[in-house]
Amino acid sequence: MTAKIIDGKAIAANLRASVKSETHRLTAAHGIVPGLAVVLVGDNAASKTYVTSKSRAVVEVGMRPLDYHLPAATGEAELLALVKALNADPAVSGILVQLPLPPQIHTARVLNSIDPEKDVDGFHPLNAGRLMTGLPALVPCTPVACLKLIKSVHSSLVGIDALMVGRSHIVGNPLAQVLLNENATVSVAHTHTRNLPDYCRRAELLCVAIGCAEFIRGDWIKPGATVIDVGINRVTDGSGKSRIVGDVNFAEAAEVAGAITPVPGGVGPMTIVSLLVNTLHAACAQAGLPPPAV
Ligand code: GUN
Repeated sequence: MTAKIIDGKAIAANLRASVKSETHRLTAAHGIVPGLAVVLVGDNAASKTYVTSKSRAVVEVGMRPLDYHLPAATGEAELLALVKALNADPAVSGILVQLPLPPQIHTARVLNSIDPEKDVDGFHPLNAGRLMTGLPALVPCTPVACLKLIKSVHSSLVGIDALMVGRSHIVGNPLAQVLLNENATVSVAHTHTRNLPDYCRRAELLCVAIGCAEFIRGDWIKPGATVIDVGINRVTDGSGKSRIVGDVNFAEAAEVAGAITPVPGGVGPMTIVSLLVNTLHAACAQAGLPPPAV
């Protein structure tokens, strides 16, 4: 193996420690305890696991968790009313409505009703627009996480040839924009891209968020490239044992890449810490204070 493994767990632990000390400073100096409201509708098993991890992380850094678990049959009006109340509550610095929402609820209507200043997911069109126009914005957590991992191996991204594979509103689109804002030369590939392997082979920085197990092969990777694998896919082998793999064939890619994030242990551990970073930024902005040093 030639690649340096980008240790998301260790980087996340460091960042968590910084968020904790900045949070304590905010509380000691200004009496502010950032509060994160997490709203879960229904009983999606994966969502429940995420929500539990988020609340634990919030407590760990000295923030206040405000958890709302609504039944699967909750109507849109009821959810909109809850968001409205959270928007108005000064103890709430950040609001996260866990996706997916049940089918009777119009997702965009709910996300668009969140106060953009409390939109710690960065999904509100105002924050997406601010990111796109280079204004300060709350940026979706996974792109924030990816940038921090990339910066652990590249002090500057100016002029780097970057390829974003995937164009979701949660990861691909905003991550491409984040890289562009760092002055990288960014291409975006997606389902309709022809000759994807050739595009990949040109990339010095390859970011992949497509949700397809081990889709990117080792011989698609430019020797020495940095590979950021956002995928989390559960696969079952011949003996019925299941494991988590990324969107990149790690064993193959690690023979060619210069640096690569493992799955698990790469992007995953960083995303929840990014949510804490966003919550801290939101709390400072709402109090009219300068942004924290994280
Ligand atoms: N479901 C899967 N990923 C996410 C995310 O980043 N934010 C929210 N709110 N829900 C999700």
